[in-house]
Amino acid sequence: MKQRVTIPIALMALLGGLTLLPFTQREEPALRHQLIPPREFLLVPTLVATGDDCLECHQNVCEQHSVSPHANTLKRTSSPGAAEFFDGQNWNDSAGQPILSWSLQEGILQLSHREHERRWAIEWIFGSGRHAQTPLITWTNQDGQSVSIEHCASAYGQGVIGATLEMEGLADADGMAALGGFRSHEQTVNCFGCHSGSVPVQNGQIQFDQVVPGVQCSRCHQDAQQHAQRMRDGLPLQIPAFRSLTPEESINRCGECHRRSDELGGQLRPDDPILPRFAPVGLSQSACFQKQASVRTSDGHAARFDCLSCHDPHAAGITDWQHHVRVCLDCHDPQEANLHSCSVAAQDTNCIACHMPAVPAGEHLKFTDHWIRRPDQDSVAELLKSVLSQSEQPATIP
Ligand code: HEC
Ligand code: HEC
Ligand code: HEC
Ligand code: HEC
Ligand code: HEC
Ligand code: HEC
Ligand code: HEC
Repeated sequence: MKQRVTIPIALMALLGGLTLLPFTQREEPALRHQLIPPREFLLVPTLVATGDDCLECHQNVCEQHSVSPHANTLKRTSSPGAAEFFDGQNWNDSAGQPILSWSLQEGILQLSHREHERRWAIEWIFGSGRHAQTPLITWTNQDGQSVSIEHCASAYGQGVIGATLEMEGLADADGMAALGGFRSHEQTVNCFGCHSGSVPVQNGQIQFDQVVPGVQCSRCHQDAQQHAQRMRDGLPLQIPAFRSLTPEESINRCGECHRRSDELGGQLRPDDPILPRFAPVGLSQSACFQKQASVRTSDGHAARFDCLSCHDPHAAGITDWQHHVRVCLDCHDPQEANLHSCSVAAQDTNCIACHMPAVPAGEHLKFTDHWIRRPDQDSVAELLKSVLSQSEQPATIP
C-alpha cells in the first residue's frame, strides 16, 4: 500500500508539479548543511516535553522559554502571525522588477515566480526572527520521502527581505533552482531535528502533523517527562543536571545543534570563515576554556566556563557587554593576580569587542566569534577606536 500522505489535497495540487521538474542540485553551501547524522534522541517521538508539561511547577522558566528564540525557531505558516511579514511582499531584480512574490491565502503562504504559472505552498518558516527567518518548501519525492527546498529569500531582523545566507544571486537562476537550495531527505529531517521538539518519521515521510515546533524542554532536559511524573507522584528528585556534566560534555550538549568541534573534521584555523557560526567549536579552542581547571575565582571556587557562564538557554542572548565582561573578570581579575590581565586595554572596557568580535556573514547577519584569543596586531588600532567610541554609547554589543 502507498504511504499515507499527510498534506492536504489542495497543497498536493500546488506541489505536485515539483516532483516532475528536473532539478539540478547545486553545490552545497559551506558547512551549515553538511550532513550530520540525525541524533537518535532527537527522533524519539513519545518523550517530548513542552512547557505545558512543566508549567504547574516551573512557571517562571516556562514563561521565559515560551518567548525565547529557542521556543520560536520553527513555525507553521498557518499559525497566527507567523507568515504575515511575507504577505504582499516582492523580491525584485536589479531593475526593480519583482522576481518572487508571496501572499497569504486561506492561511497558507504561497509563493510565485514571475516565470512560472504555478504557485508553491510554503508550510514552514525556520528562525525566530531575532536574526533571520527562512521559509522551507516541503514535498514528497518520487521515492515517497520528505524532501525540501530552503528558500533563497529570507526575512531579516531589521525588517527587510534579502538573500538567504550563501544563496546570494539564486533568485536570478534558471528553472527551479531559482527557488533556493535543494535539501535531501536526510538534510530535511536534520533541519526539523535541530529546530523542533521531535520529528517523527515513518517510511521516509516526516509526520508533519506531529512535529512539535521549537526547541522544547526535552531537547535539553532528557528524561524530563519521567521527572515530571515522579514529582507528581511525590517521588524523590531525579533529573540529570547540567552542572554535573564536565564543561566539555556541557558545551557538546549544546553542540548537538550548535555543532561540536569533532564534527568539523581536520585542523581548525582561527581565520576559518565558518567558525563564528558554530559557538561550541570556537569556544572549545580558547585557552580560557581549555585551561579553566587551573583557575580559582577570587572567592576561592574552582572556575567553571561553559555556554551557561554567559547565556541563559531559556532566554534571548544578552546584548549588554558589561554582563559578559563580568564573566571575563571572574578569572582575569587583576586584583587577585589569578591570571594575566589585558596588556592593551583597561578593565572597564568592552573585552568582547576585541576578543569576541561580531563577524559579518552576508549582508544582513553577524555572528560572534567565540574563539577567545589575542586579536590580530593589524586590527588593534581599529578595535581600540571602536571601543573608545562606545564609551559614550549605550552598553550594547554593536
Ligand atoms: C510536580 C512538580 C514538577 C513538575 C510537573 C516538573 N518539575 Fe522539574 N522540578 C520539580 C522540583 C520540586 C524540582 C527541585 C527544585 C527546583 O529546582 O525547582 C525540580 C527541578 C527541576 C530541574 C533542575 C534539576 C537540577 O538539579 O538542576 C529541572 C531542569 C527540571 N525540574 C525540569 C523540569 C521539566 C523540563 C519539566 C516538564 C517536563 C518539569 N521539570 C516538571 C518539580 C516539578
Ligand atoms: C535542539 C537544538 C538546540 C540545542 C540542543 C541548543 N540550541 Fe541554542 N539554538 C538552537 C536554534 C535552532 C537557535 C536559533 C534560534 C532562532 O531561530 O533565533 C538557537 C539559538 C541560540 C542562541 C541565540 C539566542 C539569541 O538571542 O540570538 C543561544 C545563545 C543559544 N542557542 C544557546 C544555547 C545553549 C547555551 C545551549 C545548551 C544549553 C543550546 N543553545 C542548545 C538550537 C539548539
Ligand atoms: C545541526 C543542527 C541544525 C541543522 C541541521 C539546521 N539548523 Fe538551522 N540553526 C541551528 C542553530 C544552532 C541555529 C542558531 C545559530 C545559527 O544561526 O547558526 C540555527 C539557525 C537557523 C536560522 C535562523 C537564522 C540564523 O542564521 O540565525 C534559520 C532560518 C535556520 N537555522 C534554518 C535552517 C534550515 C532551513 C535548515 C535545513 C536546511 C537548518 N536550519 C538546519 C541548528 C541547525
Ligand atoms: C536549550 C536548552 C534548554 C531548553 C530548551 C530548556 N532548558 Fe531548562 N535548563 C537548561 C540548562 C543548560 C539549565 C542549567 C542552567 C544553569 O545551570 O545555569 C537549565 C535549568 C533549568 C531548571 C533549573 C534552574 C532554573 O533556572 O530554575 C529548570 C527548572 C528548567 N531548566 C526547566 C526547563 C523547562 C520547563 C523548559 C521548557 C519550558 C526548559 N527548561 C527548556 C537548558 C534548557
Ligand atoms: C564569555 C561569554 C560567552 C560564552 C561563554 C558563550 N557566548 Fe555565545 N555569545 C556571547 C556574546 C557576547 C554574544 C553576542 C550577543 C548575544 O547575542 O548574546 C553571543 C552570541 C551567541 C549566539 C547568537 C549568534 C551569534 O553568533 O551572535 C549564539 C547562538 C551563541 N552565542 C551560542 C553560544 C554557545 C552554544 C556557547 C557555548 C559553546 C556560547 N555561546 C558561549 C558570549 C558568550
Ligand atoms: C574560567 C576562567 C576564564 C574565563 C571566564 C575567561 N578566561 Fe581568558 N584565559 C583563562 C586561562 C586559564 C587562560 C590561559 C592563560 C595561560 O595560558 O597562561 C586564558 C587566556 C586568555 C587570553 C590569551 C589567549 C591566548 O591564546 O594567548 C585572552 C586574550 C583571554 N583569556 C581573554 C579573555 C576574555 C576576553 C574573557 C571573557 C570573554 C575571558 N578570557 C574569560 C581563563 C579564563
Ligand atoms: C581594544 C581592544 C582590546 C580590548 C577592549 C581588550 N583587549 Fe585584551 N588584548 C588586546 C590585544 C591586542 C592583546 C594582545 C596583546 C599582545 O599580543 O601583546 C590582548 C591581550 C589580552 C590578554 C593576554 C595577556 C597576556 O599578556 O597574556 C588577556 C588575558 C586579555 N587581553 C584580556 C582582556 C580582558 C579581560 C578585557 C576586558 C576587560 C580585554 N582584554 C579588553 C586587545 C584588547
